Amino acid sequence: MLDLMNVAWIEGAGPGGGVGGHLRILDQTRLPNRVEYLECTEVEQVWQAIKRLSVRGAPAIGIAAGYGCVVAAVAAERGLAPGAEAEAAVAQAVARAADYLATSRPTAVNLFWALERMRKLGPVGTARLLAEARAIQAEEVERCRQIGLHAWPVVEPLLRGGGGATGAGGPGLPGLPGVLTHCNAGALAAAGPGTATAPLYLAQERGVRFRAFVDETRPLLQGARLTAFELSAAGVPVTLICDNMAAQVMHAGRVRLVIVGADRIAANGDTANKIGTYGLAILARYHQVPFFVAAPSTSFDLTLPDGRGIPIEERGGEEITEGFGWRTAPVGIGTYSPAFDVTPHELITGILTERGVIAPVDAVQVAKVLR
Ligand code: MRU
Repeated sequence: MLDLMNVAWIEGAGPGGGVGGHLRILDQTRLPNRVEYLECTEVEQVWQAIKRLSVRGAPAIGIAAGYGCVVAAVAAERGLAPGAEAEAAVAQAVARAADYLATSRPTAVNLFWALERMRKLGPVGTARLLAEARAIQAEEVERCRQIGLHAWPVVEPLLRGGGGATGAGGPGLPGLPGVLTHCNAGALAAAGPGTATAPLYLAQERGVRFRAFVDETRPLLQGARLTAFELSAAGVPVTLICDNMAAQVMHAGRVRLVIVGADRIAANGDTANKIGTYGLAILARYHQVPFFVAAPSTSFDLTLPDGRGIPIEERGGEEITEGFGWRTAPVGIGTYSPAFDVTPHELITGILTERGVIAPVDAVQVAKVLR
């Protein structure tokens, strides 16, 4: 697995024996060409890092936000003597930071879940807040590991099953069972082995060979820049395709299953994930390829009965017209750039969670597995 931490608290001496240090965020906008870190000592830097996708992926956004509250708390505690007054000032700073960080991105529910968890601590010292942020991160690592283990009985037979499709990666590449994924729902987007990638890393660990077909994922290329990077670094055979090639890849029988992540899942299993996921699910249904969503319980929003209530982030048109500094459309052209879409639950074969596999995907099964 990738040997890079997406989010880490860097210890430092605090005044008067309190918590010191700062938040280090791997700048994912620089990958795969450069490994650079953002050193965040102010909550505004954390907000920016989330907004501009330096840290992205639903669980990772939640983890960064948890630490973002600690960044604000450390600043508020500076110069105050330990005691009730300092704790009240810290609680106020955390509440303000939580309100502010909540405005960074609207779709991934993990952000709001983590902020609420930090806010609920109330008047405590920075050491307690740091312990909570660390717990959020450690628990997400464990949830991702459990997703892999619960998914295994479902994924293994599809990868091992004889006959049918093999994912020849291109001229001269050996045929292997193919798995298609979209965007990045890996270690970079989450913690530990990631969500959609957890069963894939497990397959690799257990000697089951496969080929990952990785959608490029327009407009910001999380598949090409991040998933291709992290899976190939782990030694997984990867074939990168443009998003509009997925139908042909399925038609040619090269993939046995699709696994994607999630940003917010409603109570009936309708799932918001990176733009293009919905189209992929339709293609998978047409070609009778099983379509799985992998997500921790922290990505569910059971307050929403279905996907219609999920807020969809819209991003600036320049990410379409000149995403990487090179203009590819006429100046002044109109654009529309939803960052996510919602896949209706009927198109999802199963949701792979740390508590078990939700299948069939409907409100009854969601409630049963998540209870
Ligand atoms: O805009 P992004 O890069 O934050 O979108 C990320 C995704 O859509 C992921 O698939 C999702 O957050 C799951 S991450 C385990």
